[in-house]
Amino acid sequence: MLVLGVCSLKGGVGKTSVTLGLASAALERGLRTLVVDLDPQADSTLALAVAPGTALDVAAVLDDPRAETVLAAIAPSGWADGGLDVLIGSAGGMRHDAIDEAGRDVDRLRFALSWVNGYDLVLIDCPPSLGGLTRKGLTASDRAVVVTEPGLFSVMAVGRAMRTIDELRRGPAMTLQPLGVVVNRVRTRSVEHAFRLEELRGLYGPLVLTPQIPERAALQQAQGAAQPVHAWPGQAAAELARAFDELLDRALRAPATHQYARRQG
Ligand SMILES: Nc1ncnc2c1ncn2[C@@H]1O[C@H](COP(=O)(O)OP(=O)(O)OP(=O)(O)O)[C@@H](O)[C@H]1O
Ligand SMILES: [Mg+2]
Repeated sequence: MLVLGVCSLKGGVGKTSVTLGLASAALERGLRTLVVDLDPQADSTLALAVAPGTALDVAAVLDDPRAETVLAAIAPSGWADGGLDVLIGSAGGMRHDAIDEAGRDVDRLRFALSWVNGYDLVLIDCPPSLGGLTRKGLTASDRAVVVTEPGLFSVMAVGRAMRTIDELRRGPAMTLQPLGVVVNRVRTRSVEHAFRLEELRGLYGPLVLTPQIPERAALQQAQGAAQPVHAWPGQAAAELARAFDELLDRALRAPATHQYARRQG
């Protein structure tokens, strides 16, 4: 079971979109997948078309990470008849977002996920911060993906996310490795985007993952209809689906031992 955390300090850069795109690719490939919706906004839970009525959610799991709580907070996604489940997100998750300096609670999600089995892949959609929730998400992860857009402020935020990953690796998350940086919403003809991509490559080298995810309205349309992008019609959706297939391949490949250099200032 590979646990992949999807994070960024910055809001709206595409964490949920990347989580959903990878879930769609995994479903297409027949991987049994669990999406953990750690974001109090609960966007993944909505987009994954979870039927209402599940009694528990991720807040209850973090309150009380016992097996029965965890299993009662997991529901099937409406995307398919099986193979894709969701650990339900909720606004109540906010109460676990404080950073606990003593580190007593940071492995709560990791502990909760130790009760979960039967999945090939777990994707954790983190909130837009590097607070307690994201730290719990990353501590539960084997690999971390930092999502960014090719803009100045987003590029700066990547450095902070990478430093948090590094800090957690030296502490509670000794097996966590950065898979890399997913650059989302790329416009191929934008000079500014090309410049920011070069800047990212200069800072993070091979950690800048390929392919980048293009900006396409089809992604929003599929999300709005609570459908996997692989099932959405049209060329743009097919292009997005291919990009997520390749990113999933990259995530599933044998652990690459990057010499992760902290070159960012
Ligand atoms: N490649 C893309 N092409 C077009 N629209 C996109 C793309 N990626 C994301 N979006 C849209 O941008 C908005 C923000 O994306 P998303 O919700 O995935 O970001 P996020 O990082 O999860 O946000 P938050 O920080 O609020 O959790 C959504 O409306 C989404 O549909
Ligand atoms: Mg999100």
